[in-house]
Amino acid sequence: MRHIMVLNAKGGCGKSTLATNIASYFATQDAAVALADYDPQRSGLDWLARRPENRPAIAGVAGFKDGLRKAPRNADILVIDAPARSHGAELADLVKHAETIVVPVLPSTIDMQATTTFLDELKGVGKIAKKQAKVAVVANRVRENTLIYDDLDEYLTKARVPYVAALREAQNYVRAYTRGLGIFELPEYLAWPDWEEWEPLTAWLRSKRSQP
Ligand SMILES: Nc1ncnc2c1ncn2[C@@H]1O[C@H](COP(=O)(O)OP(=O)(O)O)[C@@H](O)[C@H]1O
Ligand SMILES: [Mg+2]
Repeated sequence: MRHIMVLNAKGGCGKSTLATNIASYFATQDAAVALADYDPQRSGLDWLARRPENRPAIAGVAGFKDGLRKAPRNADILVIDAPARSHGAELADLVKHAETIVVPVLPSTIDMQATTTFLDELKGVGKIAKKQAKVAVVANRVRENTLIYDDLDEYLTKARVPYVAALREAQNYVRAYTRGLGIFELPEYLAWPDWEEWEPLTAWLRSKRSQP
């Protein structure tokens, strides 16, 4: 089983949005997928509750209270939606569950600053330092041709972890979440720009580069 965690100590950067879309992506690729929600705010589980029955099933795991004890053993892919404010021992504990970690970052000075602190802390976690988990950053909610996106792009290019994708700000993410879907499950005429932006991220997730 692969464990893919979406993690950043900063709140509101798109962890649940990326986690639900990664889960939906693999589910539409015929993988057996589970989504473990480690955030007591339950955005991941709420999304699953909205998921229509005619879509590929995704198992839900209440990680915030049960850990992974109740995760289905037969899952190919377990996506973990992490809570904000994960630091210290709690962060080290969370990271134990994953070999692949995706860190979303918003085009905002506060978020970039907080992410610098977070990535420094993450690098100090034994498992990451020993390269037993691979980390990548993703720009999220970007608006092209804005100065702050230029700043974010430069910041992520210089970060010492792979910068694998930039995802635009789009109502498609809001729409998809409300319907229990991922952007991959929206009609092509609406979602094709998002599908294109996700391509390098899903390619990274499928490749050996994202696995220790
Ligand atoms: N690319 C995006 N485009 C538009 N809205 C987004 C995008 N990514 C996240 N959002 C919105 O931003 C808010 C915070 O995202 P969320 O995934 O809940 O972050 P986190 O889980 O890190 O707290 C939500 O309202 C979500 O719908
Ligand atoms: Mg969340």
